[in-house]
Amino acid sequence: MSNPLENDRQLPALPEDFQRMVDDFFTVQCRYQAAIREIRTKLENLDDEFQMKHKRNPVHHMQSRMKSVQSMMEKLSRRNKTQNINSAVENLTDIAGIRVICSYVQDVYTVAELLTCQDDIHLLRVRDYIKHPKENGYRSLHLVVEIPVFLYEGRVMVPVEIQIRTIAMDFWASLEHSLRYKASGNVPDEISEKLKQTAEDIAVLDQRMQYIHDQVDALIPDE
Ligand code: GTP
Ligand code: MG
Repeated sequence: MSNPLENDRQLPALPEDFQRMVDDFFTVQCRYQAAIREIRTKLENLDDEFQMKHKRNPVHHMQSRMKSVQSMMEKLSRRNKTQNINSAVENLTDIAGIRVICSYVQDVYTVAELLTCQDDIHLLRVRDYIKHPKENGYRSLHLVVEIPVFLYEGRVMVPVEIQIRTIAMDFWASLEHSLRYKASGNVPDEISEKLKQTAEDIAVLDQRMQYIHDQVDALIPDE
């Protein structure tokens, strides 16, 4: 059977500039994917250890993503920056992103603290949209950290954006995002107001769930 890869060898070489662009992109992608794996592993380890000690998992689930080339270029253009991959590396801190979903609000802060106190992690930025919600009601804890990634050329520090929030906050954010997308950004005022009110209801619900959880915890004797 013929090897489909062999066909590639017969193709003409790519123009030099184009080849460099492709190589640069894959180098960057490889680096950011390695950073995502590092952070994921750290969070999985924290979650396992927490489970051993406290018999429950602070992390409900995680999602990760690499920003698409289109959205990198769109963000660079919005910020009046040169649109190429090196400029993306220089100017964007959310090329690699991880979302950590927790059951309880306190877990959001516990996970953030346990991660950022590790001495190979460098905390670049914190935005606490739980203590200071956005005008539309959005709640989440955002961190930008740098993590060392080891490559042929040595150690490089790679930034990763981490969004940590509760299941309820995540439910709201996903809906708000898809509604905004569907309405192409033109959500009627009445709906925006309802969304904001719902975000506030969710915050009350999260506090109540935390209270119930703490009460139940207090009933269980330490081992
Ligand atoms: P971006 O240009 O959107 O990346 O914002 P930023 O660089 O000022 O950072 P910020 O920490 O405010 O937001 C980063 C990310 O958080 C966004 O890309 C979204 O994934 C999420 N986010 C921020 N605000 C909202 C919001 O109002 N609704 C939803 N659904 N997500 C949000
Ligand atoms: Mg972003």
